[in-house]
Order: sequence, then C-alpha cells, then structure tokens
Amino acid sequence: MPRSSLSTVCTEFERHKDTYRQEIQKSISFIGQGLDFFTQVKVDCLLDLTRRYVGAPPRLKILDVGCGVGITDRFLTPHFRKLHGLDLSPGVVRKAKQLNPRASYRRYAGGTFPYPSHSMDVTFAICVMHHVLPERLSHFAAEMFRVTRKGGLVVVFEHNPMNPLTQIAVSRCEMDDDAILLKRREVEGLLKEKGNIIEKRYILFTPFRVPPFRFLAPFLGKFPLGAQYYVAAKK
Ligand SMILES: C[S@@+](CC[C@H](N)C(=O)[O-])C[C@H]1O[C@@H](n2cnc3c(N)ncnc32)[C@H](O)[C@@H]1O
Repeated sequence: MPRSSLSTVCTEFERHKDTYRQEIQKSISFIGQGLDFFTQVKVDCLLDLTRRYVGAPPRLKILDVGCGVGITDRFLTPHFRKLHGLDLSPGVVRKAKQLNPRASYRRYAGGTFPYPSHSMDVTFAICVMHHVLPERLSHFAAEMFRVTRKGGLVVVFEHNPMNPLTQIAVSRCEMDDDAILLKRREVEGLLKEKGNIIEKRYILFTPFRVPPFRFLAPFLGKFPLGAQYYVAAKK
C-alpha cells in the first residue's frame, strides 16, 4: 500500500480489525513467541518507567495513542486509575472497548488529540509512529506532550529497523505495507523537541527468552540488537 493519506492508514486497520491479533501472530510465528510475550515486555517497561519517574500507577491516568484493538490495554487497565485510548478507526476503537470495558476510548481524524492540555500523567504510543506520515511526525509528538501534564511521561515504542528479524516480521505483515521504520535517534530527535529524554533502550532480544539470555537482557539495552526499542521523555 503506498503511503498516501491518513484515511488510507485508517481504512487498512479498519479492514483488519477482526483479524488484527491473528495477522500479527502470523507475521511473528517464525520467532517462536506469542504476541502476548511481546506485549507483556512492553507493559512491564511502562509500569517500571511510570513507578520510577511519575508515581504509583493506581493514582495515574494513562493514554494509549494508536491503541489499535486494545491488546496492550488489557494488561495495563488493572494497574492504572484510568486508561484512555485513541485511534483513527471507529471499528478498531469499538473492538478495544469490547476488550476493555473499564477503559475510555476516542476516535479522531488524526489532527489535534481530543483531550485537554496537561490532562494525562503518562502518554505512550506502541508501533504507531511508523504509520504516521513523515511530515506529520513532529505534530504527532507535540500532541503527545501537549496532553501530558508537566512532570509526566511520554514513551514511544518502535520497531528496530536494524534488527533483521524485525525486518522479516514487518515484511510478512500486510498491515505494515506502508510502514517506514524509524531509527531510535529519529524518535529521540522528535521527543527532544518538547521534552527531556530520560531513558532509551533496545528491548526484546528474542528469540532468547530462556536463561541466560533473559538474565542478560537488562544489560543489552544499549546495543541495537533488540527487536524493538523505547524512548522515554519527561515533560
Ligand atoms: C501496528 S498498530 C499498533 C496498535 C497498538 N498500539 C498495539 O501495539 O497493539 C498501529 C495503530 O496505530 C493507528 N494509527 C496510525 N496512525 C495514527 C495516528 N496518526 N494517530 C493515531 N493512531 C494512528 C492505527 O490505526 C493502528 O491501530
């Protein structure tokens, strides 16, 4: 799919709303780990970052930008006072609400996020930026900061284009036909425009789930070997 417009991205995810989990599962099946393994690692990172830099999750509001069908939110909702989710596609947002009835979801057209400024404690996006048109990335990042309160956290998780297994998984996934993967320093550059980078780390050194690799993972974060990475910034 040529990257042409927001509505093309929206239509593509709408088309896959009922098969989203299976599509992703199919594209990563060769790695030998289920989708929930990858999701849980990111959820653990988010909880850990939140506790260290913002406070106790049960007191906090968190926003999932580009929430998709709410797969990550299923793991996060029980920990936070309130989880909000935002996406382009109405069908996708409906699915997310079915999966997470306690969370609040909104649909928007891709411009200004439909939340007041400073209204969230933590704002994150998982594998969304590689679907955002390059000329819209700076605005997208600025919106993440606008809705986050001072002292709050903005976290972006992205695919690592330097990992060959990630490249294979992306090439096998129809929903990623339009994807333009971003290097970690590109995401750092975007977040630096509005906040202070506090942590950046490569994650998911799969297929090495077993010890000793799992034990080593925290020490490998500097090396661009992980399947994904995160960049965290404080406002
Ligand atoms: C690969 S999916 C990731 C979904 C979810 N974050 C997850 O990790 O399961 C990308 C999602 O980003 C959404 N998306 C793409 N561009 C967006 C934008 N500009 N604003 C908000 N969401 C967007 C798509 O509709 C899709 O649901």
